[in-house]
Amino acid sequence: MSRQTRVIKLLDLCCKAGGCSMGYYKAAMDLGYQIEITGVDIEHQPNYPFEFIQADAVEYISKNWQQYTHFHTSPPCQEYTVATVQFRLNGKKYLDNLEPLRELLKKTKRPGVIENVMQAPISPDVILRGDMFGLKVLRARKFELLNWFMLNPVMPPKIGSVKNGDFAQVVGKGQLKVTGGKKFKVPGKSVTEVWRNAMGIDWMTNNELAEAIHPIYWTRII
Ligand SMILES: C[S@@+](CC[C@H](N)C(=O)[O-])C[C@H]1O[C@@H](n2cnc3c(N)ncnc32)[C@H](O)[C@@H]1O
Repeated sequence: MSRQTRVIKLLDLCCKAGGCSMGYYKAAMDLGYQIEITGVDIEHQPNYPFEFIQADAVEYISKNWQQYTHFHTSPPCQEYTVATVQFRLNGKKYLDNLEPLRELLKKTKRPGVIENVMQAPISPDVILRGDMFGLKVLRARKFELLNWFMLNPVMPPKIGSVKNGDFAQVVGKGQLKVTGGKKFKVPGKSVTEVWRNAMGIDWMTNNELAEAIHPIYWTRII
């Protein structure tokens, strides 16, 4: 099939406000592919920029996978991320649907990607960090590739740090906060403006930015 006639039908499970979806969209545009994207999230996502379905990810893909040619999922990371360690040590349990989603994506025999934090139990087939793309936020993430393969891009040594104020910390509810270090600030800009600019995302709220993946990552994945 040529690039002009092929239509990619991508299902983004656990899509939130669509950082990953937008990355796939821009990468497909750059490469001359037609792409239709559907996002699924358990919570309503009024700012999601493509077709949206509010549903449980496992239930939705179980019943509807045949409608799609490609799959992505960013399952909730609270069971693995360092940000929740103190709560987990106190016995708090978070929803973890990573394993059932992996099995369902594998069974489709169609290309899929699982994205998550560095501590999550997924294969580090690809590892990307914001500074590889000139972004002012680091947010290193692992990507497990299912039913396809690519080489892991070389990650250059990191120059600078969050503590020295070289990178923004896009976490929490919207403060430019760094414990015991210099804050990344841009004079005259609000936190939302700084975060949006650092992430390369112009449509999200602070809460959505705090959980998003930079769209630019997909220029390397596709
Ligand atoms: C880390 S966020 C995804 C961020 C997104 N990939 C981006 O780049 O903007 C994870 C999302 O999973 C959603 N979620 C949690 N449990 C879910 C479930 N059972 N089914 C579908 N979505 C779920 C949450 O509501 C949240 O929006």
